[in-house]
Amino acid sequence: MNPLAITDQEFTLFQRLIYKIAGIDLADSKKVLLVGRLQRRLREHQLTSFSDYYRLVASGQHPHELQTMVDLLTTNETYFFREPRHFDYLRDEILPKRPRGERFRVWSAASSSGEEAYTLAMVLAEAIMGGHWDVFGSDISTQVLEKARNGHYSLERTQGIPPALMRKYCLKGVRSNEGTFMVAPALRERVTFGQINLTRPIGREVGMFNVIFLRNVMIYFDNETKRKVVENLLPHLVTGGHFIVGHSESLNAISDKLVMVQPTIYRKP
Ligand SMILES: C[S@@+](CC[C@H](N)C(=O)[O-])C[C@H]1O[C@@H](n2cnc3c(N)ncnc32)[C@H](O)[C@@H]1O
Repeated sequence: MNPLAITDQEFTLFQRLIYKIAGIDLADSKKVLLVGRLQRRLREHQLTSFSDYYRLVASGQHPHELQTMVDLLTTNETYFFREPRHFDYLRDEILPKRPRGERFRVWSAASSSGEEAYTLAMVLAEAIMGGHWDVFGSDISTQVLEKARNGHYSLERTQGIPPALMRKYCLKGVRSNEGTFMVAPALRERVTFGQINLTRPIGREVGMFNVIFLRNVMIYFDNETKRKVVENLLPHLVTGGHFIVGHSESLNAISDKLVMVQPTIYRKP
């Protein structure tokens, strides 16, 4: 099948739409990517131009299709124990000094399909006896959240998981589930997921957290959006809590309400 063509004007419409909805700053160089990801949707709706598809999603009358577009235009790459230094820091520096007698809460904001949230859960389960902890994972994409809630992954995804934790928390599938694993119930019952658009005000019901992981999502935002997202998250971080960003990200010139403990690791004074 021939790829559908997109004009510069049409591409600009989608750039503006995804920026308005998710804060994602889609570079001009992403035209081919956008066509590749959306053309199946046009065919599904028997549309022959990107202008027609734009009208459909921007009309406000097809929220489900708009969500599908957001799902397709987000980049959801993630894996277990990604950037492991952050999990070492959590285990060796943050957890030993945590306030005792209180529930310890960690937020994986922009959790994608859940690998980061379950990695956090493994670290917390090992360090905190008695189960006084929980992990909240959130994302704008409903598709990845469904995968996250299922907690069911291909065994190929286990590379970063230390063997001892693998044995303890990953249940290997048999027969029709051969080649896959389920995250053990002991972790799954402490990890919840919800849809949160980080560019919009975040409800108080989400609660307060000791640590917020906001990793590998700010790379898609311009500085204005980064500031907004950090402002939205900060009221949910306890005083003395930690805020952790991806290895290629920084809060330099984004927020003066956090102090850097070491590159990519910040603390709310
Ligand atoms: C590359 S993944 C990062 C996953 C994980 N934090 C990690 O470091 O492996 C980025 C995620 O950010 C999500 N995202 C993008 N814009 C968002 C927004 N405005 N609000 C919430 N999540 C967003 C995407 O759906 C995607 O799943």
